[in-house]
Amino acid sequence: MNAVFLVGFMGAGKSSVGRALGERLNWAFEDLDDRIERSEGRTIAEIFRDAGESEFRRAEHDALKRALEELRGGKVRVIALGGGAFVQEQNADLLRTAGVPTVFLDAPVKDLWQRCCKQASQNGAERPLLRSQEQFQDLYEARRKGYSKASLAIQTAGSTVEEVAAEIVRKLGLKPIGIRTEQGEVE
Ligand code: S3P
Repeated sequence: MNAVFLVGFMGAGKSSVGRALGERLNWAFEDLDDRIERSEGRTIAEIFRDAGESEFRRAEHDALKRALEELRGGKVRVIALGGGAFVQEQNADLLRTAGVPTVFLDAPVKDLWQRCCKQASQNGAERPLLRSQEQFQDLYEARRKGYSKASLAIQTAGSTVEEVAAEIVRKLGLKPIGIRTEQGEVE
């Protein structure tokens, strides 16, 4: 199966590295949170607010299943997962069974926090689980072990998005495709 999944905490750069990786490889890029918003017809923040986190996790699991079905059908993609997706046992199991590589993007938790705060103030990025710095840190610590089950872990501190994308290509031995079958991002 031609796919790479990017996992890691909020603010780790999964979407920006995913886009850069897709461009390098000529593979389409997909953000799983966008698929969830499309299928649910509301934003992630609205799902959390109206239906709660467990309903969001259900929608996330369904979205992952559908994405994997499309990959089995021959699609070639770089897919960024939301920060909590890979630490849900049933999602990690699906990915393991599918045999797709998973890449854990990591950075010092204070950098992750600062990046999320910057995104919230600059482009109004709404993250329901971005509360206090202390809660953010505790959640990161609780999830770290789960993330480390990914096939590859990369420390992104001090590297540019392009450098991280290049490292993933090199370490996983990924090959660009000549003709792109899907244009731009998955919509
Ligand atoms: C979440 C992270 C978010 C999004 C949702 C839940 C989490 O994605 O899926 O708000 O549980 O860490 P990002 O990691 O892209 O912010």
